Amino acid sequence: MVVANVCDNEMVSSTPIRASLDKRPEEVATMFDDVAPKYDVVNDVLSLGQTRRWRKIVFDAVGAVPGQRVLDLAAGTGTSSEPYADAGIDVVACDFSLGMLKVGKRRRPDIDFVAGDAMNLPFEDDSFDACTISFGLRNVNEPRKALAEMLRVTRPGGRIVVAEFSHPTVPVWRTMYTEYLMRALPAIARKVSSNPDAYVYLAESIRAWPNQDELAHWLQDAGWEDVAYRNLNGGIVAVHRGVKPLTDDAAASTARPAPAAR
Ligand SMILES: C[S@@+](CC[C@H](N)C(=O)[O-])C[C@H]1O[C@@H](n2cnc3c(N)ncnc32)[C@H](O)[C@@H]1O
Repeated sequence: MVVANVCDNEMVSSTPIRASLDKRPEEVATMFDDVAPKYDVVNDVLSLGQTRRWRKIVFDAVGAVPGQRVLDLAAGTGTSSEPYADAGIDVVACDFSLGMLKVGKRRRPDIDFVAGDAMNLPFEDDSFDACTISFGLRNVNEPRKALAEMLRVTRPGGRIVVAEFSHPTVPVWRTMYTEYLMRALPAIARKVSSNPDAYVYLAESIRAWPNQDELAHWLQDAGWEDVAYRNLNGGIVAVHRGVKPLTDDAAASTARPAPAAR
C-alpha cells in the first residue's frame, strides 16, 4: 500500500497493461499510471461530454458547504475534486495511482492530493463531513472494504455519495449501451488513448459490476443508513447516497432541547 503525500513520490514507470477483472491492486494502479496523461480528455470523449453533468449532480448530492471537509476517494487526477475546491470546500483527493495524482497536482496545486489505498485509508476515524467516490469503487479490489473504510473516516451523521457506471433499466437502451461498451468504446479508445486495453477492461468491468439494488445493499451492509440511489442517463450511471448513523451521544445531543436562558 502507498501512503504518502504525492509530492514525496516518484511516478511509477509502467508498460501498457490491462487489469484483469479480479483486479490485482498493483495492476490497477499501473494501468491508471499509464492512462493518466490523457485520462481527462479521453474521459470526455468516451462519455460523449456527459461527465461534467454527472459531476455537478454528485457535487449537489454531497451537499457540502465551506467549512466542511470532504474526502474524494479514488480521485485520480482530481477532476472529481475540483467542484469542491472551486466552491471553497476543504477537499482531500486520495488515490493510489501516483501517476494520476501527479497529473492532478500539476494541474491543481491548490488541491490536497494524498496517496492512499481505499481499503486501508490513511485518515483518522470520523475526520470527514462527507466521503465521495466517482467511477472508482468498481476498480477497488475489495469494494465492500472501501465502503466500510469510508464509513470509518466519516463523522456520525455525515454522508457518502458513490457515482458509478451501472445498468440501464430499459431493455432496448441496455442493448444499445452494451453494443457501445463492447464494440464502439474499444474502437474509439484505440484512436484516442495510449492504452486502449485499459478501455476494454473498463467495458468488461462495467458489465461485471452489481446492479443498482445490489450496490445499495452493499452500502447498507457496510453500515450506511438511509441509502437511496438515482439513475442518470437511464441507468448508465447511478448515484448512491447514504448517511453514517449517529452515535447514541450524538443523537442525544441533537434531540436534547437547548438549555433555557437564565
Ligand atoms: C476511473 S478513475 C476515477 C477518477 C476520478 N474520481 C474521476 O471521476 O475522474 C478510478 C481511480 O480509482 C483509483 N483506484 C482504484 N483502486 C484504488 C484503491 N484501492 N485505492 C485508491 N484508489 C484506487 C485508480 O487509481 C483511478 O485513479
